[in-house]
Formats: sequence, C-alpha cells, structure tokens
Amino acid sequence: MTTSFPAGFLWGGATAANQVEGAYAEGGKGLSIQDVLPRGIQTPPTEAPTPDNLKLEAVDFYHRYAEDIALFAEMGFKVFRLSIAWSRIFPNGDDDAPNEEGLAFYDRVLDELERHGIEPLVTISHYETPLHLARAYGGWTNRDLIGFYERYCRTLFERYGHRVRYWLTFNEINSVLHEPFLSGGIPTPKDQLSEQDLYQAIHHELVASARATRLARELAPGAQVGCMILAMPTYPLTPDPADVVAAMQAEHANYAFGDIHCRGEYPGYLLRYFREHGIELDVTDQDREDLRHTVDFVSFSYYMSLCETADPEKKVAGLGNIMGGVPNPTLEASEWGWQIDPQGLRVVLNDYWERWQKPLFIVENGLGAVDQLVEVDGTPTVVDDYRIAYLDDHLVQVGEALADGVDLLGYTTWGCIDLVSASTAQMSKRYGFIYVDRNDDGTGSLERYRKKSFHWYRQVIATNGAMFGRRADDVAPALQH
Ligand code: BG6
Repeated sequence: MTTSFPAGFLWGGATAANQVEGAYAEGGKGLSIQDVLPRGIQTPPTEAPTPDNLKLEAVDFYHRYAEDIALFAEMGFKVFRLSIAWSRIFPNGDDDAPNEEGLAFYDRVLDELERHGIEPLVTISHYETPLHLARAYGGWTNRDLIGFYERYCRTLFERYGHRVRYWLTFNEINSVLHEPFLSGGIPTPKDQLSEQDLYQAIHHELVASARATRLARELAPGAQVGCMILAMPTYPLTPDPADVVAAMQAEHANYAFGDIHCRGEYPGYLLRYFREHGIELDVTDQDREDLRHTVDFVSFSYYMSLCETADPEKKVAGLGNIMGGVPNPTLEASEWGWQIDPQGLRVVLNDYWERWQKPLFIVENGLGAVDQLVEVDGTPTVVDDYRIAYLDDHLVQVGEALADGVDLLGYTTWGCIDLVSASTAQMSKRYGFIYVDRNDDGTGSLERYRKKSFHWYRQVIATNGAMFGRRADDVAPALQH
C-alpha cells in the first residue's frame, strides 16, 4: 500500500559522539567510560585507554564533521541525531566550570547543520558517562550524579537552547537493566550488583531526566524534550497463558521507564515488584515533585523483537542482543544474531502511541552487516541491497502505523555513516549509507564512499516516503551515481 508521510516529517540519521568523533583526548576532553571499553560489552573495562580501542579515533567526525554533514545534506536529511560527549563539556563530570573548547566544537557542528538547513536532535547522554563519575562516585548509583547532570544540562540549554529544538535525556535508558556500566556508568560487575542498587540508580536517572525537562522549559522555551527507550516487543513463545504473563512481565520491566517519563509516577506493577523483592528506594518529596515534569515526546530505537516463556527448559540463550529473551522460531536473524521483525515496528508504534498518547520519534533503526567495497563504473561503492531491503521493509510498517493513526515526528536510521559498534566495538558491523574506510584492526584511510543505499535513501526523502515496497531495483538509475 502507499501511505503518505505527514508534511514536515523529519527524515534523517543518527550517531553518538563516542562512536563517531574520535579525538578522545583532544580539545580538553576528559575520559569517558567508552575510552576503556575496547571490546564493547564483551569484556570488562580496561584500567586506561588501550591502542586497540577503535573509539579513540572512531571515524574522526571530530575533524571531518563538515564533509560528513555535507553528505547528509546531499541525501536531503531534515534532521541529524547527534550526542554531546559529556566529558568534552565537563571533563571529569564534577568540574565547577565547563570546558569552553568542547562547547565551541558543538557550536561549529550546529553552525554547519544550520548552514545546510538540517535540524539537530541532541542526545544529552549516550553511553558516555565521564569515567571519573563512574570510578569515584559509582556512576548513577550515587545521588550526586543528579546534580552533576543538571549542571551539564543547564550549560547545554544556556548555550544551545535557542538553536536545538529536540533533546533526548538518556539514550536507551532501560538498557541499564542489562548493561549497568555501559548505560549507567556503574562499575560494580553486573553479577555483583544488587537490585536495590540498580533500581536506586535508575531512580536517580529518572529524576535527572525529569529535572532536565523542567530546566529546558525554563531555559529553552520551545524546546521539546523526549525520553529514549530501547524498544523490543516481547511476544509469548507459545499461546500458553503462563507464557503470555511471562511476556507481559518482561514488557513491564521496559514499559516502566516510559510510564514514569509520561505519567510522572511509578506504576503499580513496579511498586509490587519492589515490595516482593525487598527493594526500598530512597525517594524524597522533591524527587516526587520532579518526576511530575513529564516528557513532550517518546523516542525509541528498534532493531528486533524477542520472545519470553515461563518454561525454564525453553529459556535458551541465543539472541545476540543485550536484553536477554528467547529466540523466535519464525524469524531470521542478522549476521550478529539480531532477529529481524519489520512488523514488530508497527506493533511498537501502535502500542506506545495507545499507551502514552505522546508523539513518537523513531531515532534508531537499521541493519548491522558486513559490507564489501567494490568498484561500479570506476567509483568505489557498496551494493547493499540487503540494507535497502531491511529499511524498506521497516518503512512499509511505519506507513502501516501512520495509517493506523499513530502520531510520528520522524525517523532517523542508526549509524547513517559507518561507525564503531556499541556492543562489539567493531567497525565491520556497519549500518551506514556512507562507507568509511576503516577496518577492525584500525587500518584504513578514513575515506568516505556513498553506498547504493545512499542513493535509495535520498530518493525516499525526496519523495517523502512515497516509494516504499518498490525496493532497491526501483532506485532511479540517475540517482545511483
Ligand atoms: C543501540 C545504541 O543500542 O544500538 C547504539 O543506542 C548502538 O549506540 C546501536 O550502536 C546498535 O548496536 P551495535 O551494538 O550494533 O552498535
């Protein structure tokens, strides 16, 4: 079917500072947790940065942002999602004053976006907590982080509030349930972290997020603040009602983050969980008041769905994702084991819209795949029909959800330019429309090349999504070079 996307729909792409910028020790930047995660979430952090950590140089966006933004403009981007590296602005996280050189860098990036008429969408904290806050304070388990984050947000809103309309407080805030160090800067190994400490950390993040929302209203009138959730619809593995309840409970663990962001209070099912697991949170009256500052919109990432079962014997691992769950026997998986489920995106869109009645924003979606650089008519490129098919299949479902009446602000594909993977820290897990010549061993010229999907996406945007379901072969030949 052909569904028209609303006028003004925000088409674009998304990145995170730690995965593209590099320049980890330039411009007065302090260390972040990413600088000690050379293997992503696969191995524990190192003591200090090590040369095998690809994020230290990443794809050098720090020096090449003008060239990259020009390529985004060539695709017709209306919006570009970037994150600000907290440790560029407050190198240790607890500094009294911000680092002017770091602020000036993002001034330049925003200038460049403005020059091309691309709207910025800024993630305030994307898996890059300053390392000092992790090591000296225990990350978000410590209430002091609320104040440090608030000071950071105040600095950002005062500096950029007049030119950035869309803000996200924490990337995939619910992922802290599974990756406490990556997501919450919590250095205690996962298997030694108590649920008491984990949920206290989550509480601090939720209060910090609400305070950021309140602050934005004061300092950046007109700004829209959203939460950002890792969306993974959980289906019952079988029609057995016990599996349905298991799936519901798995959904609750994630819904809680959206419920609190949108309704301003803890949901009953989570309070029950606390009661039954001996979790007693330190919640002040001020916290309760802060939480009432609910978000303007809900953003989320979507890559895959999963299943849940009540039967311990069927609880096999096997998904390459960070959220656990049981594989779905009806779905195919990517080369990294992420199960591909375009219809799940329609499910999430309907579900979130009906649950929260707030505008939605898809801020991540895409296929991590191995690409082959080849020459077509003498021009280096990647013939990534698999990526086009993945995105096209998902956009068809976005069209269905729009027809269902969902209010959707925009769509930014993940890793619009190749970048370093978050979970595995590889370059070879590529998502981009733009190929970056860098390999897993760190070699490569860092040259940029347009993939076939670059031309496809340009046409998608130019037609405001009127071309789905027609796939790669329909990309007008004239647009392919
Ligand atoms: C999301 C993150 O989890 O998924 C991104 O917000 C990440 O930072 C993306 O890169 C894809 O995951 P990965 O592990 O393939 O890089």
